[in-house]
Amino acid sequence: MTHSSAPGKIILFGEHAVVYGRPALAVPVTQVHADVEVSEADRAGIWINAPDVNLHAELNTLPSDHPLASVIHNFLFLSRTSPSPAGRGRPEGSGEGQFPDLSINISSSIPVASGLGSGAAVTVALVRALSSFLSHPMSDEDVNAFAYEIEKLHHGTPSGIDNTVITYARPVYFVKGYPIETFKVGRPFTIVIGDTGISAPTKESVGDVRKLWEADQPGWEKVFDEIGEIANTARISIENGIVEVLGDLMNANHQLLQKMTVSALELDQLVDVARNSGALGAKMSGGGRGGNMIALVKPEMAETVSRALKEAGARHTIITQVS
Ligand code: MEV
Repeated sequence: MTHSSAPGKIILFGEHAVVYGRPALAVPVTQVHADVEVSEADRAGIWINAPDVNLHAELNTLPSDHPLASVIHNFLFLSRTSPSPAGRGRPEGSGEGQFPDLSINISSSIPVASGLGSGAAVTVALVRALSSFLSHPMSDEDVNAFAYEIEKLHHGTPSGIDNTVITYARPVYFVKGYPIETFKVGRPFTIVIGDTGISAPTKESVGDVRKLWEADQPGWEKVFDEIGEIANTARISIENGIVEVLGDLMNANHQLLQKMTVSALELDQLVDVARNSGALGAKMSGGGRGGNMIALVKPEMAETVSRALKEAGARHTIITQVS
C-alpha cells in the first residue's frame, strides 16, 4: 500500500492579477490536507472510495470528465505512453485492463471550493500515490506539470499557482510561465484564516474578471500592476522580517479585489470584523465571491480574532504561522 498527502494553500497577495502575469505570493497550509491510499484491490477493476463526497465506484462507471476519474485516466494514459522500466504490470501499449486491480481511498480535510486549493491537493496526492504504487517515478516538476493540466481541465485559465504551492509545499513567489521561486521568511508571522462557508467555484470569478478585462484592458492592466507592486513589496518585507507592513498591504490588495467585483458581502464583513478585533490587516484570499479571507495578527491576538470571526459567522477558522 502507498500513502500520499498534500497540504492546502492560501494566497497571501496577488490572486486574479496572477492570471495576467503579475506576481503572487502563496503559502502551504498544513493544518488541512488531502490524503490518498492506493493498494491492490481484492476484486477486478479500479475502485475509488471517497467517503467525503459519498463516492464508492469503479473507475469506468464514472463519466470521464469526473474530477477524480479524469486524474486517474490521465495518469494511466501518461504511464502507458511513457512507461518506466520499473512499472508494475504495464506492457507497453497495453490498455487500462492490464493494470493491477486497485483500491484507491481518498479523503480530504480541505473545504471544497473555498480558495484553499482542495482540487489541486487531491490531484497532487492522488498522482503521487499512484506513481509510487505503480512504480512510475515522477519528479516534483512532473507532478506539478500534471496537476496544472488537470487544473486547466476544470478551471479554464488558471495561473498554476495553486498546483505549484501545493506540489512544492513551500512558500512561493509565483509568476505564470516562470520557474518556481521560493521566498525566505525573515521573521515568522501569524495568519488567521476565516471561511465564509460559501462555496464559490474559481472558474466563475476568473471568468468574470476576464469579461471586465476584455471590456477595458488598459484600465484593468493598471489595477493588475498595482496588485503586482503590492506583491513585490510584500515579498521584500517578508524577506526582511518587516511583517507589520503586510497588514496595510493586505488592506490595499482587498480594496483592489473589491474593485474587481470578486469579493462578497460575507467576505467584506469578516474582513471588517478581523480588522476591528485586533488584526493588523485583512483581505479575501483565492478566487473570492465566497471561500476564505485571511487576517494578519500578532500571535497573542490570534485567538481573539479567530473567536470574533466565528461569532460573526465564519464556518471554520485556522490559525497558521508562516515561517
Ligand atoms: C485561485 O486560488 C487563484 C486565482 O488567482 C486563480 C488562478 O491563479 O488560477 C483566483
